[in-house]
Amino acid sequence: MTQSPTKSVAFQPRPFGRYYLIDKMAVGGMAEVFNAVFFGIHGFEMPLVIKRILPHLSANQRFVDMFVVEAKIYVALQHQNIVQIYDFHRFQDQYFIALEFVEGRDLKSLLQRCIKHQQALPRPLALFIAHQICHGLEYAHTRTDDTNENLGLVHRDLSPANILLSYTGEVKIADFGIAKAKMQAESTNSGTLKGKYRYMSPEQANGEAVDHRSDIFAVGILLYEMLTGVKAFDHENDLTLLEQVKSGAFTEPRKHNASLSPRLNTIICRALHKSPHSRFQSAKDLQEAIAEEMHPHTVSSLSRHLTQVMNELFAEDKIKDRNRRKANRDVAFAEHQDMENDDLDVDDLIAETDIEQTIPVEEYEQQTDMLNEVQTSLQRWRLIAITLGILAVIGFLL
Ligand SMILES: Nc1ncnc2c1ncn2[C@@H]1O[C@H](COP(=O)(O)OP(=O)(O)OP(=O)(O)O)[C@@H](O)[C@H]1O
Ligand SMILES: [Mg+2]
Repeated sequence: MTQSPTKSVAFQPRPFGRYYLIDKMAVGGMAEVFNAVFFGIHGFEMPLVIKRILPHLSANQRFVDMFVVEAKIYVALQHQNIVQIYDFHRFQDQYFIALEFVEGRDLKSLLQRCIKHQQALPRPLALFIAHQICHGLEYAHTRTDDTNENLGLVHRDLSPANILLSYTGEVKIADFGIAKAKMQAESTNSGTLKGKYRYMSPEQANGEAVDHRSDIFAVGILLYEMLTGVKAFDHENDLTLLEQVKSGAFTEPRKHNASLSPRLNTIICRALHKSPHSRFQSAKDLQEAIAEEMHPHTVSSLSRHLTQVMNELFAEDKIKDRNRRKANRDVAFAEHQDMENDDLDVDDLIAETDIEQTIPVEEYEQQTDMLNEVQTSLQRWRLIAITLGILAVIGFLL
C-alpha cells in the first residue's frame, strides 16, 4: 500500500454518489483510499474516508459476497479503539465503504519516522498503543449475537498499517472484517499475500482455523517491533519468511533491547507463544499485563504524550494535509452549492407552474361570490318562469 499524504500532484475533487472525494490518501492491493466529505443541509458536513474497492475485486463475486457478510457484522462494532464503518455501497459498479476519518498517521508511518529521526519509540507509548489495541480487540472478541452466542470475530490482519494514531492521541484499529474477504480473494491468486506473513500467527500461516488468540499473537508482534525496533519475523525471501512464521521461532526481544525488563520480555514471549493455548487467553488478560508495565503512567497521560509526539514528528505533514484538504473541500463545497442551486431552480419552476394553476384566496373568494350571484339570479329567473307558466296554464283553463 502506497501512502501519499504529501504528494504534489493536484487532486481534482469530484462527486462520488452522495459524497465528495477531496483527496487521495493511498492506493494498494485492495482499495484506493480517499478523504471525502458529506454535505448535509443547513451547513451540516462530515469528513470521512472512502475505501473504493479496486475494479478486479469489485468484479470478484466471491470477494463481494464475503465482503457483504463481513461489513454487515462489523458495522455494528462501535468502540473508541475501532475505526467505525458508516456505509457500504456501490457507485458505478465499484463497491466502497465509508469510514470514520482518523486524522493522523498509521503506526507504520510512526515507526518509519522514528527510524528516520534515529529515535526509539518511547516505551510508555509503545505500551499505551498495545494497551489500546487490546481494548478494541477485547470488545470485538466478546461480541455476541441475539442468542448470546459469541460471534467469533477475529481481525486477522493486525499490521502496523492497520493501526491508526490520531493527532489527538487516539489509537484505532482499522480494517476489521476486511481481512477475511481479502485473504479469501488473495488465496485464489497466489503471490498476492507477499510480505503479509510478517504479522500472521503460526496457525494462520499454516492455513489452520484461527480464533481470537491469533490476534493476541499479532499484538505480540507489534509490541516486539515497537519496543525493539526490529521485526519479530523478517526475511527478504517470502518462502523463508513463511517457514519462519510457521515454526513460530523468533529471537527473544531482550536480545535486541537489553533495557527491556524481564517481565516485559516474558509478556511479549507469552503473547508470541506458538501454541494458542500457552498465550494470553484473552485480549483483556494481555491488556492488564501491559497496564501493570505502564505504571505509573495512566491512559490519559499517555494519550497526551502520543498527541505531543505525533504533532512533533508530523508537524509539517499535518499542516500541508490540512491545507490541501481545506482547499479541495472549498472547491467541492462550491460545486455542491451550484448543484443545490440548480436543484432549487428546478423546484422554483415546479412551484411557478403550480402557482399558475392555483388561485389566490382573495381571487377565489371573489369568484365564489360572483358564482353565488349568478346562481341566485338563475334561481330568481327560474321562479319567475315557473310563475308565468302556472299563470299561462290557469289562463288557458279559464
Ligand atoms: N479511516 C481512516 N482514517 C485515516 N486514514 C486511513 C483510514 N483508513 C485507511 N487510512 C490510511 O490509508 C492507508 C491505507 O489503508 P489500507 O487499509 O487501504 O491499506 P493497508 O492497510 O496499508 O494495506 P492493504 O493493501 O493490505 O489493505 C492506511 O495505512 C492509513 O494510513
Ligand atoms: Mg488497512
